Amino acid sequence: MRRRRVGVLISGRGSNMAALIRAAAVADYPAEVALVVSNRPDAAGLEIARRAGIAATAIDHRPFRGDRGAHERVIDAALREAGVEILCLAGYMRLLTPFLVTAWRGRMLNIHPSLLPAFPELDTHARALAGGVKLHGCTVHVVTEQMDAGLILAQAAVPVLAGDTAETLAARVLRLEHAVYPAALAAFCRNEAGRAAAEGSWFANPLPDAAPLP
Ligand code: GRF
Repeated sequence: MRRRRVGVLISGRGSNMAALIRAAAVADYPAEVALVVSNRPDAAGLEIARRAGIAATAIDHRPFRGDRGAHERVIDAALREAGVEILCLAGYMRLLTPFLVTAWRGRMLNIHPSLLPAFPELDTHARALAGGVKLHGCTVHVVTEQMDAGLILAQAAVPVLAGDTAETLAARVLRLEHAVYPAALAAFCRNEAGRAAAEGSWFANPLPDAAPLP
């Protein structure tokens, strides 16, 4: 099957982007990373992508102050120029306008560090701890106008342990993100982007199977 051309939007560290690049280095992975775009020129992820031989560019949002749509139109043009078919948000810390959401409807994915619909938006790990939940995790979903509310493609959970801090919990979830995002993207590609994404739904459970009852 033809490998789908994927664009990745980042703002910083880029560890999920790196996980996608790593996955796409495997020959039968159904996607290739065609372009990485950061809204921050100093994003560490840009250098990681370039070192991996991936085209990576900064499109700074600051000159577009007050006109997020204009910034997105430049990003959109770069993505189209690179022949991008599917767009993955990976720690992209800008609110999207309806322009980008509409332009990539059904073809834009995001990874969020909680088990949505619990804990949308920011500070998910601290809120999970404060809420006393016993399971926490991450979600890959289709991006829609409403933040963190699109169709869920994949989720995976980790236990919240006694003594966890927001940092230890974040690190445990992040390791999971690096497995779940590439797997969800692969499932999405194999189901043909744009088709009922629910067909690609699956649930990743990293915990070992429970021992059978005696
Ligand atoms: C991740 O926790 C992701 O779930 C969230 O932003 C963070 C990005 O981290 N959307 P990285 O830049 O991929 O390392």
